[in-house]
Amino acid sequence: MKAPMRSPFLTWQGVIEHYGDRLPVTEATPVVTLLEGATPLTPAASLSERLGGTRVFLKMEGMNPTCSFKDRGMSVALSKAVENGAKAVICASTGNTSASAAAYAARAGIACAVLVPQGEIAFGKAAQAVIHQAALLSIEGSFDQALELVRAVSESYPIALVNSLNPHRIEGQKTAAFEICDQLGRPPDCHALPVGNAGNIVAYWKGYREYRRDGVIDFLPKMLGFQAAKAAPIVDGAPVEKPETVASAIKIGNPASWKRAVRARDESGGLIEKVTDRQILEAYRLLAGEEGVFVEPASAISVAGVLQLGKRGFFSPDEIVVCVLTGHGLKDPERAVQESREPKVVPAKIDAVVKEIFST
Ligand code: F0G
Repeated sequence: MKAPMRSPFLTWQGVIEHYGDRLPVTEATPVVTLLEGATPLTPAASLSERLGGTRVFLKMEGMNPTCSFKDRGMSVALSKAVENGAKAVICASTGNTSASAAAYAARAGIACAVLVPQGEIAFGKAAQAVIHQAALLSIEGSFDQALELVRAVSESYPIALVNSLNPHRIEGQKTAAFEICDQLGRPPDCHALPVGNAGNIVAYWKGYREYRRDGVIDFLPKMLGFQAAKAAPIVDGAPVEKPETVASAIKIGNPASWKRAVRARDESGGLIEKVTDRQILEAYRLLAGEEGVFVEPASAISVAGVLQLGKRGFFSPDEIVVCVLTGHGLKDPERAVQESREPKVVPAKIDAVVKEIFST
């Protein structure tokens, strides 16, 4: 009999199994996982060319089980919640946290309630929350108000909060920084990402610092964070009452991890800047059209920001830049259709089809 095929793909057991010695888990922690993590770090040839040779890599976090980076943190948060006896979890969300919380709660066999700003979350994300049987509550208010509500509920009732205010979320998400270093065999020089509620920039910075502290890497990247022009409280230095942007995932006026995000920016010698919705959508189309990579608009802001800096000559050709692509494009199919040409209706005849093909 032939020996069974041994494939490296079959050995990946999720972020807790792989990075558990760097996470707040013990033998007693029941591991709640959907085998998140181990996402590709894809070279971006077209972007590199636009930047004059600087090597750009895309960290494809939309390839996690619920199609966003939240799954890393949710694995740790749900594992700890179950370890601590929780029977239910709650979060506020612009969509991705709710999708991930719903899926991991289903996996753990506990209840999940999600509060989202009414009419503001992308179609795919709402579908995920409901099919995983979460109680989806559309709040007549903003994300920031929803976050205040879930904080209050979790303080008064035995329901575990799984927003990134929960330190276990940050712990799980820092594993993406480990992976990038493990994949490159070194840290990147610059690390670009969207900033919304600001948990992820804090998580990455923590991950890089821990690898540096333990001598796994010998320098730290600059953290480059980007906010949408009309939803840029950190850049503007004041909360935004009515944030506006096509990037609904980061439509946030008062980020929970504001101070820690500023610390990550300053300690790393990086920056947090804003880019317009127009730039975001340009990067969105460029990624899909030139790199073959479909992301949601909030994720495209990493690339929009890097292109903005590139125009100012920010990068040198010998540098490595990693752009985190936080969520998959299919989360928000309506936006993709809006940004694309309408399909042509043609008769079911070969000459009509050929005529159309050669006229475009
Ligand atoms: N990109 C995507 C696709 C997101 O969904 C989020 C946040 C961010 C970036 C920003 O990350 O908040 O850690 O700075 N989404 C949250 C949610 C707010 O509810 O899904 P952050």
